[in-house]
Amino acid sequence: MEKTKVLYEGKAKIVYETDDPEKLIVYFKDDATAGNGEKHGTINGKGAINNEMSAFFFNLLKTHGIQSHFVEKISDREMVVKMLRMIALEVVVRNVAAGSLAKRLGLPEGTPLKTPVLEYDYKNDELGDPLLNRYHIMVLDIARVHELDEIEHIAFSVNQILINFLKAKNIRLIDFKLEFGRDSKDRIVLADEISPDNCRFWDMATNEKLDKDRFRHDMGGVEEAYKEMLHRVTA
Ligand code: ADP
Ligand code: TMP
Repeated sequence: MEKTKVLYEGKAKIVYETDDPEKLIVYFKDDATAGNGEKHGTINGKGAINNEMSAFFFNLLKTHGIQSHFVEKISDREMVVKMLRMIALEVVVRNVAAGSLAKRLGLPEGTPLKTPVLEYDYKNDELGDPLLNRYHIMVLDIARVHELDEIEHIAFSVNQILINFLKAKNIRLIDFKLEFGRDSKDRIVLADEISPDNCRFWDMATNEKLDKDRFRHDMGGVEEAYKEMLHRVTA
């Protein structure tokens, strides 16, 4: 399969069209941003780690009956995916208070949540990715009710599968962000990536952060954390 042209260059990945009209090649970069693009940096080796970890998790989910856009990993930093019409939502699932939820609700970081919490953010850089509820999503015509039902079902299933898998690796799944698209038959399909860029992973025993929060908050040991997570996941 050959890359033909750049379809889109984002903050962390480049998406290429290919000679197959239904397939894209995603290239994972080392670039990192935080705070809606205000902070820029590089995390050496991140692209290869996120490509490998995402491929691993999409394969794991497949064995549990969850289909995704993932087709195959073709190089260190590239995977082939099914082309989707993306839905402009960031679907966040949380098990433990951290980040924007801890701030918004005044909960100390690390507070276990009585029930997993699902949130929608509008994927819209100009507006700063605001929080949306189902009514906002209807008004903006982003997705239909039955599609949100399907998205929530998949998101909570992914949560349970990842929690169980990561527990055996001594990792607590604090929260994560998923993206979804529609395929040619309008089916909802899980897309994008699953990596330390878009998940919070804490060591079970020490609560050490093994994810992008180390970059967001200038904590040091960023590359080491990404390497450690890949090692634990794939070992
Ligand atoms: P961002 O847009 O947030 O800067 P990235 O740098 O991660 O994000 O760029 C990847 C882009 O590719 C995202 O906009 C994402 O929504 C989109 N994308 C992910 N999977 C697919 C897919 N299967 N088909 C089409 N677009 C996709
Ligand atoms: P938040 O606490 O900052 O809202 O983040 C919740 C989760 O979503 C966390 O695992 C990081 C991830 N996330 C992204 O992947 N992209 C984003 O733009 C944001 C804000 C969060």
